Amino acid sequence: MQHQITFLDTRGGSVRFSCRTEQAISRAAEEAGVLIRIACDNGGCGACQAEMQSGAIRYLAPISEKQRRDRRSGELRYELLCRAVPTEDTTFLIRRPWRRINRQPMSNLLAQLQN
Ligand code: FES
Repeated sequence: MQHQITFLDTRGGSVRFSCRTEQAISRAAEEAGVLIRIACDNGGCGACQAEMQSGAIRYLAPISEKQRRDRRSGELRYELLCRAVPTEDTTFLIRRPWRRINRQPMSNLLAQLQN
């Protein structure tokens, strides 16, 4: 089963991709050519923080609750996308910019060049 993930940025941009039920959202993003900031890849550093706007997730493995908290207020505010898997279609606000890469197979690129 797959769910739709939407990333929003602070300037009104968005990107949407599919994520399998047992797949970390950061991995699904990478497969779709959307690169977000990842450092530890194990739920410990907070580099992949995102604010969930709608939907639901669960975690594949334990994560740092400290990295989910707002530094000023101490409230739980962020989800950690390197360990989060969607349980329904979900939308996140990503404050750090993502980068898009071309995931087309080389054969498709060569075909485009020949036309
Ligand atoms: S990359 Fe470190 S918590 Fe996700």
